[in-house]
Amino acid sequence: MLKKIPFKRIRWPGWVVLIIIGFSFVYGMAQLVDAIRFDPESEGASPVSIDFKTESTDTDTYTMSIKTPVMEDPQIKKPLKDWIKKEKEDFLKRVKENKKELGEGYRAHLIIQADSRKSTHDTYSIMFHSYQLVNDVRGKEHVKTFTLDVSEEKFVKLPDIMTTNDELIQMIRTRLQGQPNAELQEILKDPASWNWTLNGKALTLYFNDINEAGPTRVELPIHALLPYLDDKTADDLEVAEASTGMGEKYVALTFDDGPDPYVTPRILNVLKEHDVKATFFMLGSQAEKYPAVAKSVAEAGHEIGNHTDHHKDLTKIGREQMVQEVLASRQKITAATEEIPVMLRPPYGAINRDVETVANDNGTSLVLWSVDSLDWKNKNAAAIHSVVQKEIAPGAIILLHDVHSTTADALPGLLTLLEKEGYEFLTVSQLQAKLAVETASPFYGSMKKG
Ligand code: NI
Repeated sequence: MLKKIPFKRIRWPGWVVLIIIGFSFVYGMAQLVDAIRFDPESEGASPVSIDFKTESTDTDTYTMSIKTPVMEDPQIKKPLKDWIKKEKEDFLKRVKENKKELGEGYRAHLIIQADSRKSTHDTYSIMFHSYQLVNDVRGKEHVKTFTLDVSEEKFVKLPDIMTTNDELIQMIRTRLQGQPNAELQEILKDPASWNWTLNGKALTLYFNDINEAGPTRVELPIHALLPYLDDKTADDLEVAEASTGMGEKYVALTFDDGPDPYVTPRILNVLKEHDVKATFFMLGSQAEKYPAVAKSVAEAGHEIGNHTDHHKDLTKIGREQMVQEVLASRQKITAATEEIPVMLRPPYGAINRDVETVANDNGTSLVLWSVDSLDWKNKNAAAIHSVVQKEIAPGAIILLHDVHSTTADALPGLLTLLEKEGYEFLTVSQLQAKLAVETASPFYGSMKKG
């Protein structure tokens, strides 16, 4: 028999209840609006400034690092939370299944990253990227996107902004011809379930579990899609373009081949002094050798990219080894930095169709450069300055290497020089987001009017 616990019930008068409900509603809205701030400084590229928090768990057998957006509205929060919960449960189940192999220096990892991207005037996407590494070399990856309409405070599915899905499905079918399987057929039937992000340049889709190596990324140029987008979305994309500060001088600094125990910390110091964020394309083998240095790069807030495991020319080693070079490196970089590199810079900039396919199959985008500082050849501060100064232009991606001490010597002068010319520094993905919106304009305009 259950013993009845004496319980004194507090009876609130009706008006108090109403005020509380009313208040929590207003408070909830205020929190949502507060959490989703449009940053006028960077309108068009990443204007949505959402606060994120990271929770970490550390046990003998596993680590978890989970980044989530701070959101108060329970209705908006729930699907995000549910998805994270599912990823966590799946991971913990696999940890349990592999209990014997874990512990004593070998731990499983779950890393969930999140960021926000603006789509149209009123919408933006939260993109999650989860990576679990239990007993496999490759890890298991998923991408999940949630697109939100800020003005109406509701989720937007892809079919909501399309006038028809048929052409879109056909385009994707054509793109994914190489991998027809049962799961893909199922996914293609249901565009409402697709993971997507949109900007003035392209619609990017991510399909999980159709390729065992990771999420498959499909980028469709916006001009091909324009006829099938609803009017409001098409117009809002244009609004987003018109409101960007055209011609602003942004560049991205990139550092390859590290991390290096001597040069990388010096570079980090200089970047910190100038309050500049850069992108580091790391070698997996180096990240494995110097995990603390790799970690310090990520902790300083720089962007982490993949430069393969052993710096081989990918076009010369065959598909299978190519995949290995990319994936092993990604695993090592992720283990060291707790960041999942989503950009790949192939060594020597050597690219062919296979390299493109391998990158896309693994959810990464290829990034080259537009200004080669020749720091690897000249090894001289003055020479580096003059090469960069001659070739620099807004939107440039500058190639440098954090393995030569002469590059670290050249960096303070280089930053001062570029700052004087009015340049601002962004990470590669920030720069790409800016350019996506800005360069799409002419093309977009002629499509609409022509
Ligand atoms: Ni390199």
